[in-house]
Amino acid sequence: MDWNSFLLKRKHLDEIPWDVFQRLPLEEKANYFVQNNGRPFHVLIAQQFERESLDKLCDLATRIRRIAKSKTGMDFLSILLKHKRAMLDFTQPSSRTFLSFYAACQILGIRPAEVRNSSTSSEMKGESRMDSMRTFSSYFDLLIMRTPEQGLAEKTAWMLSNTERPVPIINAGSGKDQHPTQALLDIYTLQRSFERRGGIEGKHIVFCGDLARGRTVRSLAKLLTHYPKVHITFAAPGALQVGTDILAQLDAAGLPYELTADFKSTIGEADAIYMTRIQDEWDSEEEKPAKFNLAEYSFAAEDLKRLPPQAVIMHPLPRRSEIDPACDNDPRAVYWRQMRNGMWIRSALIATIFVRDNEITNYYMMNIK
Ligand code: NCD
Repeated sequence: MDWNSFLLKRKHLDEIPWDVFQRLPLEEKANYFVQNNGRPFHVLIAQQFERESLDKLCDLATRIRRIAKSKTGMDFLSILLKHKRAMLDFTQPSSRTFLSFYAACQILGIRPAEVRNSSTSSEMKGESRMDSMRTFSSYFDLLIMRTPEQGLAEKTAWMLSNTERPVPIINAGSGKDQHPTQALLDIYTLQRSFERRGGIEGKHIVFCGDLARGRTVRSLAKLLTHYPKVHITFAAPGALQVGTDILAQLDAAGLPYELTADFKSTIGEADAIYMTRIQDEWDSEEEKPAKFNLAEYSFAAEDLKRLPPQAVIMHPLPRRSEIDPACDNDPRAVYWRQMRNGMWIRSALIATIFVRDNEITNYYMMNIK
C-alpha cells in the first residue's frame, strides 16, 4: 500500500486564484492538499480521506499506541520530529482537541506553542488574520487552527502556498462547517469497537442532537460513506435536523439513511449512537430554533436497557445533559476512550504529514509485533 492514488490527482494550490478555488466542490478541493509523495500535506476537510487512507491512519494509530506503552518505545517516538515546532492557534474554546493535539506533538517530540486568545495578540492592534498566520508560519513548521469562521484554515493554506514557508495546516474545527480530525478519531473508535464484529461495514449508526450545526456530524457522515452497507439514522428536533448538503453526499455515495424526530425508538436498533450537544452558541436573537424537549434527545440511564448488548454510545464531548453520567461505567459507553483515541490518531496524522509513518511501522514490526 502506498499513497500513489492521491498523487495522480494532485493539484497545486499556488496555481489557482482564491476566488476560483473557493468555489470548487469539496471533492475537487481535496486534490490541492496533497504533498508530492501522495500523503496529505494540509488536513482541512473530510473529503481528503478515502478508505485506504483511513485504514492506514487507523493502523498507524494502533502501532503508535502500542509502541508508546514502554519507555524505549516512547524514546523512539519522541525523537522522530524533535526538529519540528508546531503552533496551536485556537481562537474558539477547546479542551480535548487542543490537549490531544498538544499531547500528540509531545509524543512525537514536536515542541508546541499556542495562542488561545486573540486579545493578547497583535490582532488587537489591527493586524489581519492572514498577517497573523503568516507570522506564525515564519516561526513554526505546522499550524493547527480552530476558528469560529468557516474556511479560514483553507484561506491560510492558500495564502501560504504563495510564500516562502508554505507549512502544513490542520483544521481543528472550522465554524459550523468541518472537524476532520474529530471524524478520524470517531472512525478509529468505531473501528476498534467493531473489531470483532466485522468492522464498521453494515453497521447502523444513529446521530442524535444538534445535527444542523454540529460540525463533527458533517465530517463523520462523509467518512462513513467509505464503509459498505452502513446505514445512518439522523434523530433530531425538526429545526436541528441534518443539512441537505450532508444528505446529498450520502445520496451520491448510495448510503441509505432515515430522518426522525423520535430518537428513543432508534435505540433498540443501533450499533452506535453518536450523541451531540445543542450548539446554542450559534443562536441569535433573530435565529433561535423552536423550543423542544431536550430529554427526548438525551440518553438516560434507563435507555441502557433498550440498547443492544454489543452497541456503543459515543459523544465528541463536551456533554451537558445529553448523556446521563450514570451511563459512564457501562462498558458500552465509549466516549472516554473515544477522547483518548484522538491523541493516537492525531499522532498518526502528524507523523504521516511529516513522512515518519514507514519508520514507525518498521519499528513496530521489528520490536512489538
Ligand atoms: C466538538 C466541537 O468542537 O465541534 N468538540 C470537540 O472538538 N471534541 C463538539 C462540540 O463542541 O459540541
